Amino acid sequence: MADKDDIKTGKDFGLGIRQKNKAFFLKGSGALDWGMQNRLARIFNPKSGRTVMLAFDHGYFQGPASGLERIDLSIAPLIPYADVLMCTRGVLRACVSSETNKPVVLRCSGGQSILSELSNETVAVDIDDAIRLNAAAITTQIYIGAPYEHQSIKNLIKLIDTGNRYGIPTLAVTGVGADMKRDARYFGLATRIAAELGAHYVKSYFVEEGFEQITAGCPVPIVIAGGKKLPELDALTMAYKAVDQGAAGVDMGRNIFQSDCPVAMIQAVSAVVHKGEKPKKALDMYNTLKARIEAKGKGKRKRKK
Ligand code: 5RP
Repeated sequence: MADKDDIKTGKDFGLGIRQKNKAFFLKGSGALDWGMQNRLARIFNPKSGRTVMLAFDHGYFQGPASGLERIDLSIAPLIPYADVLMCTRGVLRACVSSETNKPVVLRCSGGQSILSELSNETVAVDIDDAIRLNAAAITTQIYIGAPYEHQSIKNLIKLIDTGNRYGIPTLAVTGVGADMKRDARYFGLATRIAAELGAHYVKSYFVEEGFEQITAGCPVPIVIAGGKKLPELDALTMAYKAVDQGAAGVDMGRNIFQSDCPVAMIQAVSAVVHKGEKPKKALDMYNTLKARIEAKGKGKRKRKK
């Protein structure tokens, strides 16, 4: 029962002090509702305004790709160093501990494979299930210029509308088919279309020429995919250039989990993204951490013998 005794009348109204109305930190997100902003503030670090998303959703069309054969073994050790996890609901339920407090961006499209036309996707998760899984955001791919362009855009519109109903942001991934051009004109077009349709943030690829124009022309944050595995210094340089030219972080997979030392690599990427560490310094950090981890591993093996 509510206690009616001893109710003290409020006196401290801070008269003369204006109530602060702080602007939301994230590009293009100032007019969103509280729940939407709160979820985005879990994805993007409010201090740096950036994020390191760890992408391990590749299996939904690639099967057990290298580095993702046993997600329970390869990805679990990386989770403490990621800001966000991006995966499918199948892997989330089967291989990721529900005790993690990392926000999840849920892959909500599927229906094709590497053996068929990549753009032929459908929405593959109902919003009810995304809510059950406590998704911080939902995501699908748009394939601009591909055979199923229209269908993939319809998928995005559907996710945005259902997500908006419940305050869940949508990440639009700009998908690239095998034969598609990957230049600033293409990604400028694809990212802008996604933002105009209401995507709350967009994943693109880094391009050497004109990336700054892509980020400037997109009214919401852009994060970059890592793409195919590169030497560590090249991947760190790509991340550095991307954030330096306006990206709000990375959504990286293969360049982390296929690295010689994924635990060291994700920490080096994080230093670049959040602290603006220069690529060579970040590589030194990677090598130091790698040596430490290998020495620890050798020690453990010796003790076992
Ligand atoms: C798969 C994806 C991946 O999440 C994305 O490509 C990021 O991974 P990588 O850094 O390996 O490219 O969207 O469709």
